[in-house]
Amino acid sequence: MDPYDILHRQSVDDPEAFWGAEAAGIEWHRPFTRVLDDRRAPLLRWFVDGTTNVCHNAVDRHLATRGDQAALIHVSTETGSERVYTYRELFDEVNRVAAMLIGEGVERGDRVLIYLPMVPEAVFAMLACTRIGAIHSVVFGGFASTSLASRIDDARPKLVLSADAGSRAGKTIAYKPLLDAAIDLARHKPHRVVLLDRGLCPMTRVDGRDLDWATLRARHLDDRVDCAWLESNEPCYILYTSGTTGTPKGVVRDTGGHAVALVASIKYIFDPAGAAGAVDPVSGRRTFFAASDIGWVVGHCYTVYAPLLAGMATLLYEGLPTRGMDGEPDAGIWWRLVARHRVNGMFTAPTAIRVLKKQDPSHLTAHDLSSLDALFLAGEPLDEPTARWIADGIGKPILDNYWQTETGWPMLAVQRGADASMAPRFGSPGKPVLGYRLKLLDESTMDEVGADRKGVLVLEGPLPPGCMATVWGDDARFVDTYWSLRDDRSVYSTFDWGVRDADGYYFILGRTDDVINVAGHRLGTREIEESIAAHAAIAETAVVGVADALKGQVAIAFAVLRDPASMATPVDRLRLEGEVMALVDRSLGALARPARVHVVDALPKTRSGKMLRRALQAVCEGRDPGDLTTIEDPSTLRQIHDLLHPSPSIVA
Ligand code: PRX
Repeated sequence: MDPYDILHRQSVDDPEAFWGAEAAGIEWHRPFTRVLDDRRAPLLRWFVDGTTNVCHNAVDRHLATRGDQAALIHVSTETGSERVYTYRELFDEVNRVAAMLIGEGVERGDRVLIYLPMVPEAVFAMLACTRIGAIHSVVFGGFASTSLASRIDDARPKLVLSADAGSRAGKTIAYKPLLDAAIDLARHKPHRVVLLDRGLCPMTRVDGRDLDWATLRARHLDDRVDCAWLESNEPCYILYTSGTTGTPKGVVRDTGGHAVALVASIKYIFDPAGAAGAVDPVSGRRTFFAASDIGWVVGHCYTVYAPLLAGMATLLYEGLPTRGMDGEPDAGIWWRLVARHRVNGMFTAPTAIRVLKKQDPSHLTAHDLSSLDALFLAGEPLDEPTARWIADGIGKPILDNYWQTETGWPMLAVQRGADASMAPRFGSPGKPVLGYRLKLLDESTMDEVGADRKGVLVLEGPLPPGCMATVWGDDARFVDTYWSLRDDRSVYSTFDWGVRDADGYYFILGRTDDVINVAGHRLGTREIEESIAAHAAIAETAVVGVADALKGQVAIAFAVLRDPASMATPVDRLRLEGEVMALVDRSLGALARPARVHVVDALPKTRSGKMLRRALQAVCEGRDPGDLTTIEDPSTLRQIHDLLHPSPSIVA
């Protein structure tokens, strides 16, 4: 057995011994009395009775040794600004926001909703919440009012932190009107809204509710706030993610287990050299650049928490990968930043690389990338041509890794910290990460499948620390959604298909459910359908994810009209398509916008009325729709096929 096999076996055979030792990766205020309490499995409690604080471990702990080292490097090519905060400056800013939250009545256990663009204040806010034991819920700035309102109603935040606007490709995106509309829509009304004024867009304030960030900051300039010592299982944050219903799930992350898992992931996956004590010879530190929005799980874990917990500097970037500081096109901007800030590890999604692939490859070699150890990619399937293109272009290891919002850190990865000689394999994110008991099961028999056989990827409990503790406010939903019984063991479903080769490398083959992945962003088709159904002319709709060369997948909508005669001409239908796109933009945000809206007479369903989405998706992608014995009316699918591919039919 190689070193990885030995370590992996130990980690899953005796999780208490393995994680008990990994817990030394963070500081505890009071030691835990028990590593794992699984009496209510699958609801777990890690590091029982131990008290700690994530902000203490991410900031305060480093002051003595790294006070003057860079902690947060903020670059915005949207506003042409760049600012470096040392750990001491980060500490000061976090204390100011913590004092501001306390001053506005936020207490331990209260929720704070963060709806901010990629500004340093977003990081201060997250850390300030964890400092005082408030539970943050960051909502992606690209989400619009309906998504925001459903999250406000579920999390019931006492306070919201937001801004006048974000910016994308030089275009201002006003946040305040979206937030106001969301609060109007929501049943729950937050007491306070604190607004950062970036000077991008005028704001109208709501009296008695809205406050100015800069004024509050000035009031609390010299304040210090002690860290609240939380029991390891108290929640750190809620992060909403899409599923197969229209109601997003609030993934709850705990405190101690989450911090221990992230530190372990840096050691085994993302920066083994740094964890072993190496520093960059030029910068004298380790620097990580995860180019993900903080509203997504990669942003939470690898832009904010993990690098800071590990004492690295983290680069927070607002902008596109193809636009420079002066607003001019610059497909080399990321590599320019890697060189300037001596980035040692970089993390993004394959879509971003496919965007760069359309540009002149000379950008890849024009900068000094000597600091960079590896480029990590995750969030969607990494196609081999893209992986080869970027590997050849930058001459660095390209390390795909596979996980979900729910797991909070990788399930499959190349783990150079477990075995320095572990090599990546094209098309595979790697092998099961230490602590994860991965299995591939036959969908109907639930039997384990052998090498080279497709199965549903599941995890046997106990899930390692850092994975979701529960669904916010709904333990039953957590158990019912994810867990099923197999013999006497319950297993967690990832809702992904996978296959394993004879050497133990896994390959991901796509979702088993109706979740789609647009440019590395996870979206529920049900949410999009609900938003489209609000159009007065539409009786029924179905949305599927269809393969797209750039974005991985895009949403395609099919709509049945209430009164087909009223929209008989192509011009009517084009207008309807535009209206539907605008409707989705306003309620969910542009990411969810369908690339096409096709008007059809009827949708393909089973005799019991279930939508045949897999068949619909197959027809869109020009594939065989498979077994259609349960279809109520085969002509529905034939009509759609003929509409999309006016050539010889593949549908019988
Ligand atoms: O379908 C898998 C896909 O993205 C889903 C999780 O998305 P999200 O919750 O947004 O978390 C992203 C964390 C990186 C998975 O169920 N997915 C994620 N990583 C990969 C992937 N598909 C293929 N390869 C990957 N490396």
